[in-house]
Amino acid sequence: MDRESYYKKFNWNKSPFIKSTSIDTPIIRRTEEYEKVVECIGGWDRIMVVTAPIGYGKTTFMNLLIKEKIHEIDYIISFDSYDPVYAVIKKILSSLPLWKRLFSREVNRSEFGKLLQKKLGSEKMLILFDEAQDYDEELFRWLRIINDRANNVFMIFFGLPTLENKITSESSFRDRKSKSIKLNPLDLDVMGKIIRERIKWVGGEGIKPFNEGGLKRVCESANSIPRKLLENGQLVIREAAIREKISIDETFVEGVLGCFEEPVRDYVEPYEVPKTIEKESSIVDFLSDLSPMQRSIVELLQVNEELSISELSEELASDIRSVGSLIRKLRGLDKDELLRKPNVPYPIVVRKGKDKRSGRVQYVYGLSDNVRRLIAKR
Ligand SMILES: Nc1ncnc2c1ncn2[C@@H]1O[C@H](COP(=O)(O)OP(=O)(O)OP(=O)(O)O)[C@@H](O)[C@H]1O
Ligand SMILES: [Mg+2]
Repeated sequence: MDRESYYKKFNWNKSPFIKSTSIDTPIIRRTEEYEKVVECIGGWDRIMVVTAPIGYGKTTFMNLLIKEKIHEIDYIISFDSYDPVYAVIKKILSSLPLWKRLFSREVNRSEFGKLLQKKLGSEKMLILFDEAQDYDEELFRWLRIINDRANNVFMIFFGLPTLENKITSESSFRDRKSKSIKLNPLDLDVMGKIIRERIKWVGGEGIKPFNEGGLKRVCESANSIPRKLLENGQLVIREAAIREKISIDETFVEGVLGCFEEPVRDYVEPYEVPKTIEKESSIVDFLSDLSPMQRSIVELLQVNEELSISELSEELASDIRSVGSLIRKLRGLDKDELLRKPNVPYPIVVRKGKDKRSGRVQYVYGLSDNVRRLIAKR
């Protein structure tokens, strides 16, 4: 049976295991970590660093803070990935009510902290920065000045464990007291809730097609990593569709995922993806491992054979430098990104040569042949 007919059997409008972090994706509340943030804000700890290994739920936790705004906070602003200073200024300003924005058009970046504090008065602003391990020093240095000048601004940086060092290193926030919050591994109970909520989210009923044993086994296979839970769940569902299996029990799960160790309860290193699965899942959904902006680039390059960075940034209404850095990642030139995303069949984008665009010769980029083929297969 094809996957779509299988999903229809359970009334699903899509797979419950898609790796979405869009704001409507169900979130099981991380109460302990949420309360820590509330506590920091209450105690005027204005720089917080939230770290966890890949796929642990950092972006999802950030979404929780947006969805359930802490009541002491008046303004909340979030950045999904690196943005240069002037784009950060623009977004902060646009979050203020119109009457507070007046006269600030000509703002100078070194005066911005002072100006912002004046605009805020006694109101509090919380700024969330995701993927902060990728930010450059220049942005951190500027944010440090904002931290010095604008006393009512709170910042949370989300990132991989390496971020901790980066934040406390010499050129960024050293000497500034920052509170670190590590995301706890999720226990089996929460993993089970994630699946239940996601099945409901796509229109399904209860835990169908899983039985309790099957559900538990999928949860155990994930080693406390929610992203792994979704990947393994998807592998099981795909196999169940092929074999037209409408009830999934423990034995079936083990048959698909192989035998695995009992769950590791401690902090764990990113799970090694076995080679065979890696190949398969890269065909299935490597696009969901990309950031929303990276996906938009891929979409544009599906329609346009070749585009230059300036053309892309115009289409995306985004800064040339940040598009440039995304293209670098999509070309597979960023080592950290390669390690973080083993399912992505790099390079996604390749340099196609030079061409005259808007009056000057520029490099142009397109999708790699392999990626075009994979997308066509989906
Ligand atoms: N508390 C949660 N409740 C429900 N689903 C969750 C939760 N935490 C994570 N997930 C799911 O697990 C997947 C991975 O989470 P997320 O993308 O937030 O991890 P991450 O730590 O930001 O990963 P990366 O290191 O790649 O940025 C997401 O698709 C998300 O929907
Ligand atoms: Mg993330």
